[in-house]
Amino acid sequence: MTTATSERYEAFAVREAAGQSAVYERLARAVADSADLIRCLDRLPGGKRQPNLLFAAVRVLGGPVDAPEPFEEWVLGHWDDVADTMRSRLTQTNEPRRCATLLPFLASLEGPLALLEVGASAGLCLYPDRWHYRYGDAVVGDPDRPLLTCEPIGSFTPPTRIPEVAWRAGIDLNPLDVADAEDVHWLESLIWPEQAERRERLHTAITIVQEDPPHLVAGDLNDDLRALATQAPEDATLVVFHSAVLAYVTPGDRMRFVEQVRTLPGHWISNEAPRALPEITTLVADGRKPTGHPFLTAVDGHPAAWCGPHGQSIELL
Ligand SMILES: C[S@@+](CC[C@H](N)C(=O)[O-])C[C@H]1O[C@@H](n2cnc3c(N)ncnc32)[C@H](O)[C@@H]1O
Repeated sequence: MTTATSERYEAFAVREAAGQSAVYERLARAVADSADLIRCLDRLPGGKRQPNLLFAAVRVLGGPVDAPEPFEEWVLGHWDDVADTMRSRLTQTNEPRRCATLLPFLASLEGPLALLEVGASAGLCLYPDRWHYRYGDAVVGDPDRPLLTCEPIGSFTPPTRIPEVAWRAGIDLNPLDVADAEDVHWLESLIWPEQAERRERLHTAITIVQEDPPHLVAGDLNDDLRALATQAPEDATLVVFHSAVLAYVTPGDRMRFVEQVRTLPGHWISNEAPRALPEITTLVADGRKPTGHPFLTAVDGHPAAWCGPHGQSIELL
């Protein structure tokens, strides 16, 4: 079988699931080899056929994912429900550990800070001041708060303080609400089956956000950014940031976003796959290419660190 969808599932098995999730690796290969499943997926719009979306949809509906045969049988038997869920939901994985790779840069800015995240999902990354952190042997912040760990690679000077956050707000095409059981179930279903540590962190983050919810706006990162930015308190430093978002946006809209964010007061922190902002990635000095597939974190358009995509590591540039 050689359809683009089949190749996409095979590539997901090899490049993303292998070594991370034996369950999803098996399922992705089974989907790639199943003419029936590929025919179903090909009836969905192109942007709605992703492996992560299919697997999360099956899990949120209570379908089996442990073995390929029952998975295929169940998906074919419940295709209308699976397709409805895939049409109505987005891949909105929200990883609070990304706070650990933002912290060194946020801590270097004059506070208090007004945080504005575009592509915020449920807003779990808007609370860098509510955790404490361990970078190798260095502990930062109040040990009574929950812990985020991040592995420093190479020479790393840990931040010396936790910044004060005066305001937190976000924009998302579909903001998720941590007080809504269905949204929480969706966030849980987006975490891969073997990643128990991420599930635990998600629940800790949800508790933090429920105690003091952020101002989340349903909208587009280009159309609604300026209006939200003007709501930030004037005596705080505005920081617009985003993580794992621009891959979902067309190259033209990415350019429009970069042009707009550069005109706002304050600072801009991007944390994206290197190909999302190629004009920043080309500024990384030769010889500082990463191993693996990290994100590039940049401050005001200047490369600052290679970071693990889920905030698990940081290598300062
Ligand atoms: C993979 S999630 C990342 C969530 C969060 N930034 C994090 O790091 O955990 C990407 C988010 O971007 C949002 N998104 C995609 N395109 C967008 C757009 N044009 N405007 C606003 N949000 C968008 C999606 O709805 C989704 O919640």
